Amino acid sequence: MYGKESEFMARKLNILVADDEESIRLGFEQLLSRDGYNFTIVDDGEKALQAIEKTDYDIIFLDFKMPLLDGIEVLKQIKQRSIKTEVVIITAYGTIKTAVEAIKLGAYDYITKPFLPDTIRKVINKIIEKKNLLSGVSTRNLEIEYGDNKDIIIGVSPKMQEIYELIHKVAPTDSTVLITGESGTGKELIAKAIHYNSLRKEKPFLTVDCGSLVETLFESELFGHVKGSFTGAIATKHGSFELAHQGTFFLDEISNISLSIQAKILRAIQEKEIKRVGATDMVKVDVRVLAATNIDLRKLVDEGKFREDLFYRLSVIPIYLPALRERKEDILPLAFHFLKKYNMKRKRKIEAISEAVQKILLAYNWPGNVRELENVIERAVVIEDMLEITTASLPTHLQEIENTLTGKEVQENIRSLDELEREHIQKVLRATNGNRSKSARILGIDRKTLYDKLKRYQIE
Ligand SMILES: Nc1ncnc2c1ncn2[C@@H]1O[C@H](COP(=O)(O)OP(=O)(O)OP(=O)(O)O)[C@@H](O)[C@H]1O
Ligand SMILES: [Mg+2]
Repeated sequence: MYGKESEFMARKLNILVADDEESIRLGFEQLLSRDGYNFTIVDDGEKALQAIEKTDYDIIFLDFKMPLLDGIEVLKQIKQRSIKTEVVIITAYGTIKTAVEAIKLGAYDYITKPFLPDTIRKVINKIIEKKNLLSGVSTRNLEIEYGDNKDIIIGVSPKMQEIYELIHKVAPTDSTVLITGESGTGKELIAKAIHYNSLRKEKPFLTVDCGSLVETLFESELFGHVKGSFTGAIATKHGSFELAHQGTFFLDEISNISLSIQAKILRAIQEKEIKRVGATDMVKVDVRVLAATNIDLRKLVDEGKFREDLFYRLSVIPIYLPALRERKEDILPLAFHFLKKYNMKRKRKIEAISEAVQKILLAYNWPGNVRELENVIERAVVIEDMLEITTASLPTHLQEIENTLTGKEVQENIRSLDELEREHIQKVLRATNGNRSKSARILGIDRKTLYDKLKRYQIE
């Protein structure tokens, strides 16, 4: 139902390793085959260059010191050829100087020998995340297929992952599910996902907005009526409960229902029968009920406006959809998803979202949640003159965020040499499991200097 990360990696990622040390090559071979990647391993720089002639690699692990052609030279050539390939430098004699030089030349990161398999995994995962973010294609979305149509729920955040799991668990059961969350968080989409992943998926999925009709009409909408039961009832009508027979019935905005209709809904769920307005006998119905609300039903129960028994009946399985501001990781994948969607719908070809806009989207607090983000992107796609979405095509209240951002940026991104040195020392210490002699050797300083630095930077 949703692409697992490992499937994605095995299918998509190509990894190249170039190292002249046999033990390192063996280590990579074991790890990469166990994790299911496509990979090539070579023992010198020349062969690495030959390999990239033939295949597009996503990640290249490159030894710094190799006999024929060393890492720096290979790095330069890779970066001339492809900006998409991420290069991770492997170094045994890591000094800040060489590592910084490599990063300047475009390497993504570096690792110091000896290293643990987990270090490699972490680097690979970080690169995958970055790639996903850039392309907007996440490995962790949930697809809803119905007929020839397809909807996709975007969500890479751990919170959304939990929700997907919950959907997997509850979809095949007949449990009632109460979906809560602020307006625009995707409640209806979740209801759809549950239905179209359930055993009822070939049967109808019906939605009724409980706030949209006056009481009598609403009752007839839900349960139907018999001819002549009230003025205007010129023919017998089937209600949604009957029309959704064997399928799923989604009661949207359930908080708007009167107490008397609440009682009837409860009976429909519990006894699986309903009575048409004006009828005397009951009709059997087999319907799974899903409900959604953006206000706190518990509170309504306390105020006597919502039946406690119906509340418990509905919330057998509660699904809470967090606000978008509580899952910022989802903002950019959603933005890219909507960019694609509205390019198609509006026949436009906006290719990207500028860095400045991305920062604004991440900083904004989205009171209208995903729906608001969707509207912002749709509007931008329509009015943008450039090839990418720029701040000019955002609503003014979003444009204004930029001013508050610039100051912060500077503080965050520009770090002093001391900070870099501190971080690097910590990194080497981790790589050597805290072995100080080894660390000093790798750093190219004597032990005394290392101790001084540890003290100065207060590193344990
Ligand atoms: N995770 C998501 N991935 C893709 N699209 C989403 C996602 N969440 C919401 N949307 C889109 O955002 C819009 C609002 O979603 P939806 O109508 O499901 O929200 P809601 O919670 O029911 O809102 P309301 O409380 O206002 O009824 C829809 O167009 C929906 O397709
Ligand atoms: Mg809704």
